[in-house]
Amino acid sequence: MIATDSSTPGRSTGLVDRFGRVATDLRISLTDRCSLRCTYCMPAEGLVWLTKTERLNDDEIARLAEVFVGLGVTSIRLTGGEPLVHPTLVPMVARLAALDPRPELSLTTNGISLTRSAAQLVEAGLDRINVSLDTLDRDRFAELTRRDRLDDVLAGVAAAAAAGITPLKINTVLVRDSNLAEAPALLEWALRSGYQLRFIEHMPLDADHLWSRDAMVTADEILELLGAHFELVPQGHHGHAPAEEFDVVDGPGREHWAAASGHLGVIASVTRPFCRDCDRLRLTADGQLRTCLFAREETDLRGPLRDGASDAELGAIIATAVAGKQAGHGIGTATFVQPDRTMSAIGG
Ligand code: 5AD
Ligand code: SF4
Repeated sequence: MIATDSSTPGRSTGLVDRFGRVATDLRISLTDRCSLRCTYCMPAEGLVWLTKTERLNDDEIARLAEVFVGLGVTSIRLTGGEPLVHPTLVPMVARLAALDPRPELSLTTNGISLTRSAAQLVEAGLDRINVSLDTLDRDRFAELTRRDRLDDVLAGVAAAAAAGITPLKINTVLVRDSNLAEAPALLEWALRSGYQLRFIEHMPLDADHLWSRDAMVTADEILELLGAHFELVPQGHHGHAPAEEFDVVDGPGREHWAAASGHLGVIASVTRPFCRDCDRLRLTADGQLRTCLFAREETDLRGPLRDGASDAELGAIIATAVAGKQAGHGIGTATFVQPDRTMSAIGG
């Protein structure tokens, strides 16, 4: 359903679903490829990558982004796989920044090679960066990501901060037999550096289908572990953001923190789903619209786009897909089936 604003005829006021949720946040996966092979995401040998013809080109991405912005999308996040693998990321950001109205632009990256492009990305119009980092231990990093690139990621994080990205957010997935005990040290590092750390519950989107609810580290467990070291003051959710926010007012090494108090986010997608407030849409690198991370259905936008559909026709297809957005992910219910696409092929 597209609601139209009677004060400005023809101008859409939003993409609304049957539960009244308005989609304003679009995540565009620029590529399914990645420079890492995180064990909780991809198999060691990688996946079968999309071909160049299957992937949307930059003109197609920009065209669709313009249609989405015309339908009320106000924020666009570029993801992957690894978006820095996309050779024309900087000009892509500049094109998106030129849209009217200009959406807020952000990037989720593993940080590798960010040293080369952070300043250019900011200059092109990038507003926010989230870097995924699960450990500060070199051996553990190599084990978790199957690549010995911790130093590159840390240099990328520093480059993003130096380029003026504030707050710089760090996304961490805790894995029970690997980095779980490192959670307090990761938080202390983030507080010292002035970064905002967010712990994300592991979701059943891994290529190997090894996810299990029992093995997953829950938000309760994370908060209990951190609560033993830090004084955390709950702040609730900010707007439609999935993270539960906490002020960190005391804890180890406080005299070295970048500010008197810091922030922590916990994204409990599995145990405390925020589906009712979800304002997100996802466009895959091959031009499929997903209205939920866990959707079993996708809406093809690439076909109509390449067949010459008008903006209004594309808008109608998008509006119909949004109207049919599922109520929630249903993880843990008897009917839940993990989507065929992995996180790396959907975009975070
Ligand atoms: N569950 C939760 N988070 C995941 N990520 C990748 N796979 C999963 C998963 N199965 C995270 C990455 C990155 C972001 C894009 O998503 O660590 O921070
Ligand atoms: Fe790459 Fe992100 Fe998947 Fe790791 S989690 S393999 S960085 S897409």
